[in-house]
Amino acid sequence: MKVLDAAFVQGFIRVCDDGARMNWHERNGGNLSYRIKPEEVESVKEELAFDKPWQPIGTSVPNLAGEFFLVTGTGRFFRNVILDPAANICIIEVDEKGENFRICWGLVNGGRPTSELPSHLMNLEVKKLVTNGRYRVVYHAHPANTIALTFVLPLEDKVFTRELWEAMTECPVVFPAGVGVVKWMVPGGREVAVATSELMKKYDVAIWAHHGIFCSGEDFDTTFGLMHTVEKAADILVRVMSMSPTKRQTITPRNFRDLAADFKLTLPEEFLYEK
Ligand code: 13P
Ligand code: ZN
Repeated sequence: MKVLDAAFVQGFIRVCDDGARMNWHERNGGNLSYRIKPEEVESVKEELAFDKPWQPIGTSVPNLAGEFFLVTGTGRFFRNVILDPAANICIIEVDEKGENFRICWGLVNGGRPTSELPSHLMNLEVKKLVTNGRYRVVYHAHPANTIALTFVLPLEDKVFTRELWEAMTECPVVFPAGVGVVKWMVPGGREVAVATSELMKKYDVAIWAHHGIFCSGEDFDTTFGLMHTVEKAADILVRVMSMSPTKRQTITPRNFRDLAADFKLTLPEEFLYEK
């Protein structure tokens, strides 16, 4: 099968296009990665080439050794992915040590995978381990409301989680583990990748102060839906905070406990503190 005919590639392209339409990807902002299933790699093997040089990942992901990933290219605009996928995204293979990668398909006019490759691969590795291989997608976007909140809320997991949960009833159902927050750091390197992947052991969402969101999920729908839900809640919270310095009423810890009982959720008590 041709790479572009594969369902996982079409799903990947759709996320890029939907994200661009959401206004989460100014210019080259954001990046996306997918850990390809062995049978999917097999299905497109006719188009994969293994003659490109190995290059350092910039970190070590031994639990991803020998696996293949579909990732966006650095400097590429999400809005262009649907127009010319082969020029804007690529399939990479990780070597047997988990320290180097090579491009096997795509980026036909040259280029490299996203500068956030260390974060993507370290997050994918953590998620592979903690979900028994279920999670395959890592998505980074620059949604305005969530970024705006990082200028006014304390950069604490417990504050962001509680405020986002209160903004919309479905939030604790969609991200019951909560969200983590990473203080401002230089993007694109190993240091921010280590900090983010540490949070990904506990959460599916990591908010990067004054920068954006990293989130992870089982497939494209749940991962895009998670990004969408967090940013929608942030949008509501920004509106509430713009209208009034205080909330007249909100969802209370008791309400959250009732919700948890009915929806059979485990909501960590650390987020149900009295204010
Ligand atoms: P890339 O173009 O390298 O993917 O970087 C975009 C970005 O959002 C960096 O955080
Ligand atoms: Zn970014």
